[in-house]
Amino acid sequence: MLPTQRPLSLYVHVPFCKAKCTYCDFYSIVGRELSIPAYLKSVLREIELSKQALDLSGYFIDTIFFGGGTPNLLKPNHLGQILEALLGLCLSGENMEIGMEINPGEASLVNLRAYKSLGINRISIGMQSFQPHLLTFMSRIHSAEKSFSTYEDVRIAGFNNVCADLIFAVPGQTTDHWIADLERLVNMQPEHISTYSLTVEEGTALHRWVDAGHIKMLEETLDTGMYSFGRDFLETSGYPNYEVSNHARPGYECRHNLNYWTGVEYLGFGPAAHAYFGGQRSWNIRNLDGYMSSMKETGSAVADSEVITPFMARNEMILTRLRLAQGLNLSEYSTMFHENLLVTKKHILEKWTDELLIENGYLKIARAGWALTDEISSDLMSLTNA
Ligand SMILES: C[S@@+](CC[C@H](N)C(=O)[O-])C[C@H]1O[C@@H](n2cnc3c(N)ncnc32)[C@H](O)[C@@H]1O
Ligand code: SF4
Repeated sequence: MLPTQRPLSLYVHVPFCKAKCTYCDFYSIVGRELSIPAYLKSVLREIELSKQALDLSGYFIDTIFFGGGTPNLLKPNHLGQILEALLGLCLSGENMEIGMEINPGEASLVNLRAYKSLGINRISIGMQSFQPHLLTFMSRIHSAEKSFSTYEDVRIAGFNNVCADLIFAVPGQTTDHWIADLERLVNMQPEHISTYSLTVEEGTALHRWVDAGHIKMLEETLDTGMYSFGRDFLETSGYPNYEVSNHARPGYECRHNLNYWTGVEYLGFGPAAHAYFGGQRSWNIRNLDGYMSSMKETGSAVADSEVITPFMARNEMILTRLRLAQGLNLSEYSTMFHENLLVTKKHILEKWTDELLIENGYLKIARAGWALTDEISSDLMSLTNA
């Protein structure tokens, strides 16, 4: 690999799910597994046509991620075919991270072993909670026991880079439930833990229930209290926070996501997949049938695209970097955008003086600002393209 070659990340969206969770607005569909062979054909065609259309000679593959939906609904030989096509796009990095999401109770030991032998080296398990009533509320179809047994199987299959996702601030959840979930998970010792505050997304069943007054979300103070407790607890348990929702043992941070957050280019395949390449962002049709017929008829499934202007890039850098524990590199920002934030945003930095820190040339969110990260970022972002 030449030193001038640039990293590239690849994402494949697998939209199939066994059941729809009440809170989820990711593109996922239920009862369509019979369409998997046709989906596979379209994805392989999309990869092949991208190879013909793009000049990837200056890139090497750094990370690959199969996300969903539920990637474990694809058979190992399906994933193998997609991987083979992806690896044909350009050079492979020396130490690629190849990850996939799985749902508890849905990946057999035989399949996990097969995923491993394909070269998949990172598994992310959507455990969400170990409390039966909270799993039921979220209409998860797995039990806590399935999370434990799937985790064991993942280890038996030989994976040494495992992530578990938990959700907090779920109606019906107390701080004690949250502490019990965190303790239980830390005892299992995964390499990476993601914790998400339950978000009410438009178009979900949860949104309808909240709107109709049938469900009341937790008070904001309880939500932020659970967040701060979780972050402190995980830090002291050996999982430093490296991004608002992500904690890892040092060296096990998710490279694929870090690439997204630090401006590395990526290609996306499958319905609803996004790409960021050549200064443009594009996104695919968010409908399986629409995606497949568009691939068949036109050889493309792009729904729309936008050119990333310096104005957009500037704001995105503030938004994503302030979510990272390491913060925003002020000299990188000023080199890229010819703007000294310490001067242009002096009044905002003064407004958030207790919530922001400047350390070794990085602007970062202090403990007092954890719960206000989005608010602080939007204050710092420019409203006009001046
Ligand atoms: C979209 S899922 C895909 C992986 C897998 N199907 C699963 O459920 O874990 C990825 C992560 O996003 C989380 N997620 C999706 N919608 C969310 C929401 N509204 N609030 C918080 N977390 C959410 C999921 O629970 C999961 O941990
Ligand atoms: S949270 Fe995961 S399992 Fe549930 S509907 Fe979304 S993608 Fe499917």
